[in-house]
Amino acid sequence: MLRRLHTEQPDSFAFTPENQAWAEAQITKYPEGRQASAIIPLLWRAQEQEGWLTKPAIETVADMLGMAYIRALEVATFYFMFQLQPVGSVAHIQVCGTTSCMICGAEDLIGVCREKIAANAHELSKDGKFSWEEVECLGACANAPMAQIGKDYYEDLTAARLSEIIDALADGQVPTPGPQNGRYAAEPASGLTSLTAHEKGRDALNASARLATDIGDTVKRITGTEVPLLAPWGKQSSAGLPKAAARPKPANAAKKPAAAKKPSGEKPAAKPRKAKPKASE
Ligand code: FES
Repeated sequence: MLRRLHTEQPDSFAFTPENQAWAEAQITKYPEGRQASAIIPLLWRAQEQEGWLTKPAIETVADMLGMAYIRALEVATFYFMFQLQPVGSVAHIQVCGTTSCMICGAEDLIGVCREKIAANAHELSKDGKFSWEEVECLGACANAPMAQIGKDYYEDLTAARLSEIIDALADGQVPTPGPQNGRYAAEPASGLTSLTAHEKGRDALNASARLATDIGDTVKRITGTEVPLLAPWGKQSSAGLPKAAARPKPANAAKKPAAAKKPSGEKPAAKPRKAKPKASE
């Protein structure tokens, strides 16, 4: 697949002050002269903030790391995890199409995406709320078929259930991630055959689904305010990190941050559930 920058780009990009502080803290993980090693986390945060990776965002990150634009572009265009075109304002749905999921009905899920979102992968739905693509194995094969929606996995899907999930997201709700057929995690469909003592008194959700529900960032655009900023690997701590206002701005971050151009008539993204704070990575 040819990966190139989208034909329509916003005029500028800037991290939110909190994301800027987070990005600068990440850079301190690397020894002097090796700051370019932070390219992937910084590009990823830019994508988490905007939904997709714009040319101004790639260039802003390159400026922060002292890299030639072409080197940052090489990274951004090489890795498929970077979305180089606008994604749905509510959710980008990544359907696993690899063996286990394909055998268990991934093609039906893709059919739902074609019908409800757009005929082709990476196309926006008419209302601009959704986009989709087929991806390689996401490592949840025991819960096939599955799809990643935003940050979380929806597993043991059927076409009907995926259709309901898309409708709920369009309506501003965020359905609980994890198995969608009543399974707790990846145990046999007929129930546990071992470690049965763990069944009694356990949380209603498995650990992944619980974390996703507690943080509430499944389809949220990340601003950096979600969790406290910690940088335990260096001398800095959350208290010692420089205030965003006092730090120099990247060369092309002077303008107000601009979101990607969106189709007319688009409504705001789904409102996330209230997040509980957790320790930052
Ligand atoms: S084959 Fe779909 S998650 Fe592995």
